[in-house]
Amino acid sequence: MAKKSDKIILTGIKPTGTPHLGNYIGALKPLVELSKKNRTYMFIADLHALNTIHDSVVIKRHTYEIAAMLIALGLDLKNAVLFRQSDIVQVYQLATLLSNVTPKGLMNRAHSYKAMVEKNTASGDDIDAGVNMGLYTYPILMAADILLYNTDVVPVGADQKQHVEFARDIAGYFNNIYGETFKLPEPVISESAGVIPGLDGRKMSKSYDNTIPLFAPESELKKKIMRIITDSKTPDEPKNPDESTIFQLYKHFATEPEVAKLREMFVAGGMGYGTAKTILFEKVNSVLADARCEYERLMANTAELDAVLADGASRARVVAAETLDRVHRAMLG
Ligand code: ADP
Ligand code: TRP
Repeated sequence: MAKKSDKIILTGIKPTGTPHLGNYIGALKPLVELSKKNRTYMFIADLHALNTIHDSVVIKRHTYEIAAMLIALGLDLKNAVLFRQSDIVQVYQLATLLSNVTPKGLMNRAHSYKAMVEKNTASGDDIDAGVNMGLYTYPILMAADILLYNTDVVPVGADQKQHVEFARDIAGYFNNIYGETFKLPEPVISESAGVIPGLDGRKMSKSYDNTIPLFAPESELKKKIMRIITDSKTPDEPKNPDESTIFQLYKHFATEPEVAKLREMFVAGGMGYGTAKTILFEKVNSVLADARCEYERLMANTAELDAVLADGASRARVVAAETLDRVHRAMLG
């Protein structure tokens, strides 16, 4: 077992959709594992969801879903401080303070803002059409998240690497002006899971509407898996497991000998895709059944989730208050 590290690890998850198998394999499962060995700050980034979702009921529901999923999957709440971003008032304050040392040009270079500008330019619209200041200053709020807790390491998906580098840049600008105040955080990108395909074979993503929700009820899980698109090979024909969404998903749930066996069945021919889908469904269903049960229990008891999040917030607030105080003194005396 890896040694428990002294590094402070932090990550945020945006509550913008119901988590799916891609999120589970690529993000939630590794985070739960991380919490078993390390002190981690893990928060639900509801303030970051505000630039796209203007419905409090939707944000709240996704916030509970993520919290319930992490707990049901076995998040170690002794090591992990699980909280809601908006419960920590210091993060709004630090974002305002940091905006004064953040060059506007840095925000112009942020991927998500640039993507909007390119889209608007291509369609002949004003370059800033549909851009609110929440989107534009998104990286400053994210820098505040990271710097508030003296973070060393930030595990994120590849799309978030630039934002963590910006947090590092902003910490550097601040330290240059006001003296050593912030540690410089580092992004850690986990590529090992690769990209999990969705029902249509493209990356599983809520933007493509091709997802399998992580804790869908059993009947829905079965329906979705049966709907995975395959090629038109007959049952008799040999099939390529490495090009099959069914096999790519199975790999993340079955044991090594089980994976080897299904691989053989693909290559040998004689197994139809319907049979392969049933094998996949049974495996995923049995691996997730207990956690799904706990998830459903928690979603029916949101007061219990509120209590966990409140406890996390009170632990996070101690560090947040100390950091904000330090920054306030450096900037305003
Ligand atoms: P979506 O594409 O559904 O909007 P997000 O961008 O919110 O998902 O991703 C949240 C986390 O889940 C990120 O860490 C991302 O790397 C991971 N993730 C999302 N989709 C996949 C996928 N298909 N395969 C592997 N990891 C994924
Ligand atoms: N921006 C991240 C995302 O869209 C979520 C997030 C917010 C985050 N604050 C963070 C991730 C701080 C890591 C550290 O997925």
